[in-house]
Amino acid sequence: MKTLKVNLGERSYPIYIGSDILDQKNLIKPVVSSKQVMIVTNETVAPLYLEKVLELFSDYQCESVILPDGEQYKNLKVLDTIFDALLSKHFDRHCTLVALGGGVVGDMTGFAAACYQRGVNFIQIPTTLLAQVDSSVGGKTGVNHPRGKNMIGAFHQPQAVIIDTDTLNTLDDRQLSAGLAEIIKYGLIRDRKFIDWLEDNMDKLLSRDPDYLAQAIEISCACKAEVVAADEKESGVRALLNLGHTFGHAIETGTGYGNWLHGEGVGTGMLMAADLSMRQGWLTEADLKRVEDLVDRANLPTRSPATMDYQKFMDLMAVDKKVRDGKINLVLYKSLGDAFVTNEFDHELLKETIEAHRAINSD
Ligand code: NAD
Ligand code: GLY
Repeated sequence: MKTLKVNLGERSYPIYIGSDILDQKNLIKPVVSSKQVMIVTNETVAPLYLEKVLELFSDYQCESVILPDGEQYKNLKVLDTIFDALLSKHFDRHCTLVALGGGVVGDMTGFAAACYQRGVNFIQIPTTLLAQVDSSVGGKTGVNHPRGKNMIGAFHQPQAVIIDTDTLNTLDDRQLSAGLAEIIKYGLIRDRKFIDWLEDNMDKLLSRDPDYLAQAIEISCACKAEVVAADEKESGVRALLNLGHTFGHAIETGTGYGNWLHGEGVGTGMLMAADLSMRQGWLTEADLKRVEDLVDRANLPTRSPATMDYQKFMDLMAVDKKVRDGKINLVLYKSLGDAFVTNEFDHELLKETIEAHRAINSD
């Protein structure tokens, strides 16, 4: 087992990464200070892992709440079922919430923990590749609004992140690819060597070689932990973690939550950001080809939906957390492995990028 740390002073916490660590009570005991534990999961993950995690808390007052599965349920209405479960079981402000599932469960549980009685503890047990390399670390929590993705939320750090890589054995290939998008992101924003490593080892990751997957998870979590420690509330460098997200969130909202996976939107979005950076003269055509090949080899879409024209993108990208004084900010590339945030790009070139990447037929 590997242990990393997110360094945030008195709110620092460990990230444990290993195979078959879900039932290790010694990881949990030091971070759960009260007897009341509420496990939040969903209807897909519960039959797979809930029993094992309940066992972990056998000497606690442990309850569970099972949410419907899907991005379309990441909203305030469903969030209320968590509050209802907590209140009906008389959970006090010293309780701990446990997020058992992918990024949707993690973001919702974290947000419930941020709000319940003005803030209680929570632990992340991420079970998708995407959640293991990104969403479980860093304390961004929240829900979607019909008009915009993740627009209601709070920063609230967990007490620990427990990544059991064996949980990936039950994940389907499409979800694995969605997780690869966020892994590729870390290379593209700030680590050229990791880009080379991914190009060399993409086939091993796709075939779920456990050693290579564990290595990719560790490198990703280390990068995320470093960025979050440097800029917890996203006033600077953390914004780079949104590479591809402004395009991707627009696609997710524009096609209806749940139709495009978050990682798929990010994959296409990272490619569109590379295309715009090439049109601006910051990337070469060879750089763009490397990004396209990586996204494609990870089995992620390289075309945006046919239904998303320039105007639709612009309307949706106007509802983004990086918008400031009415201006859209994008994460673009100064060079491969070196991203930056800017609103100084040519909107005609952005239009060309959007049209160049739009699929011809709707599928
Ligand atoms: P998800 O949570 O919807 O999970 C994907 C699917 O896999 C779901 O159907 C889920 O039930 C299923 N699943 C989960 N674990 C499984 C397992 N071990 N075996 C079989 N099936 C399993 O999607 P996701 O990709 O994990 O997360 C996407 C969400 O994360 C989005 O809402 C996105 O906005 C959010 N996100 C948040 C952050 C952050 O920093 N907070 C970062 C990235 C993404
Ligand atoms: N996934 C973006 C962030 O955590 O900042």
